[in-house]
Amino acid sequence: MPDNSSYLVVPSAALWLFVLVIVGISCVALAVVLSRARRARNMKLARLEAGSVRSPLPEFEKNGQSAAAALVQWSPETLRHILAKELPDAQVIVVSNREPYIHNRNGDGIQLVVPASGLVSALEPITRACAGTWIAYGGGSADALVVDENDRVEVPPENPSYTLRRVWLSEEEQQGYYLGFANEGLWPLCHIAFTRPIFRASDWEAYEAVNRKFADTVVAEARNERPIVLVQDYHFALLPRMIRERLPEAIIITFWHIPWPNSEVFSICPWREKILEGLLGSSIVGFHTQFHCNNFIDSVDRFLESRIEREDSAISYGGQISLVHAYPISIEWEPARQAQLPDVAQCRRHVREKFGLADDVRLCVGVERLDYTKGILDRFTALDELLRLHPEWIGKVAFLQIAAPSRGTLPAYQQLHEECLRQAEDLNRRYGRDGYTPVLMVTEHHSQEQVYEIYRAADVCLVTSLHDGMNLVAKEFVAARNDEQGVLLLSMFAGASKELLEALIVNPYDATMMGDALLQALTMSSEEQRQRMQRMREVVRDNNVYRWAGSMLLDAARLRKRVAVDRAVGAAPTSSGNVISLLDRRRVAAL
Ligand code: F6P
Repeated sequence: MPDNSSYLVVPSAALWLFVLVIVGISCVALAVVLSRARRARNMKLARLEAGSVRSPLPEFEKNGQSAAAALVQWSPETLRHILAKELPDAQVIVVSNREPYIHNRNGDGIQLVVPASGLVSALEPITRACAGTWIAYGGGSADALVVDENDRVEVPPENPSYTLRRVWLSEEEQQGYYLGFANEGLWPLCHIAFTRPIFRASDWEAYEAVNRKFADTVVAEARNERPIVLVQDYHFALLPRMIRERLPEAIIITFWHIPWPNSEVFSICPWREKILEGLLGSSIVGFHTQFHCNNFIDSVDRFLESRIEREDSAISYGGQISLVHAYPISIEWEPARQAQLPDVAQCRRHVREKFGLADDVRLCVGVERLDYTKGILDRFTALDELLRLHPEWIGKVAFLQIAAPSRGTLPAYQQLHEECLRQAEDLNRRYGRDGYTPVLMVTEHHSQEQVYEIYRAADVCLVTSLHDGMNLVAKEFVAARNDEQGVLLLSMFAGASKELLEALIVNPYDATMMGDALLQALTMSSEEQRQRMQRMREVVRDNNVYRWAGSMLLDAARLRKRVAVDRAVGAAPTSSGNVISLLDRRRVAAL
């Protein structure tokens, strides 16, 4: 038998040698990769320390709940502190279409109304804290009666702390700019709700003219060349550039309260370039989520000749830089209305009496403007699903829908209203009986106090938007429940679902899932409700509206300081004169 051992030894030695060489090469490659990664990380840290545009105060920066941010108690004092320390003498001017207080004629008297608007709930405490000026359309029937000769009125009426400056619009302006371009064009364009946007040239002209009118008012109200202007929402896409042209030193922070569509959808808008150019007059453009920031940046990338630094979320256009950041909006903590309300037990009693609900009936609620983006009809479908599959719940659960009338002259809103009434009637006919009405549809404006009372009386709150920038009803419900009870059903397509993870997250298009979630909510133990509610309350408390505004103001302060430093060292200002070219500096630094 031949001895094969030598044949076996030779290939094995070669193999070992080969393995050793490969391991050696891999080690060298790994060392190179690690050292590059370390260098990149160090460079990034150095950039942050040197004042990259991205992180004004790294601990405040994260939208999630970083440990350091949670330690900061965000309050009106925090905001005032930021203003006094970081932006001394800055005048804060808020601009929105909707005013925070509406004066309406009521018989012989005047009635004060606080509109159903997430924007108003968020901005009102901020403007109070900053003692600023709020410029808005004066749409109330008695608005003109209560202003002074400069169209100003001090508010809140019970404890005046800021100035409301009213702008008057004609019927035609209101029709073209607000109902037409903003609400029949941009609103359906930006929300995935499958309602076709309507764009008319005459609406666009009105939109431009009204934006110009508001720009004139901002300039008239500015006490100096350097105000901080907080431009709100899709009614004013052109305003930032119009202000920039007249007040080049201003800090303009524009917040877009609704989603931003992907660039393919955005391309539908015939005036897409003008809208992007208008918004890029801002120092900062804010959205609720990073996803919407990315969509906006992609739209700019596609339709404008610009330079984009994705890592820093900065866009250079026409010689000026705009930062594009996510700032998830929130509510004040504790809500001012809360303190005036009776305890949960009393609220429950009162709401049940008011709507004729028996003691053993569980109460589900929905509260919002009557809008086709809110998924109201999908709630009816969910209830139908529950009662069909679990008939033992017939007579044991009622759904109260509070819907504030909104944009009621537009056909899409009229159709929605009719359909809601039809479906509510249908459910009541099929499942109702003497003394039991499964659906209560109340299409009326409710005050904040009334809304908070309803939140406190509810067993389940349904926020089932088909698409929503944030949705503050979800956060208000959580804030109202200091008894740590109640279940929140929350749409995965509302920005709030990125923060309120302990809600029952649902897809409003999936009737089975919605029905199941409703059943889960109705049968959830008190202990589970407590655990979920406790966690959500911590999130809303820590990420309150003062943090939202404070983060933007800190970013603004940082920009302003950088301009001052660059001026001091003689860096050339940009054509707009206010922001130095951060992108250029980064490029130079990288060479
Ligand atoms: O949800 C987006 C939003 O602009 C809110 O900011 C605001 O509450 C609402 O829509 C506007 O409603 P209205 O048309 O009644 O002012």
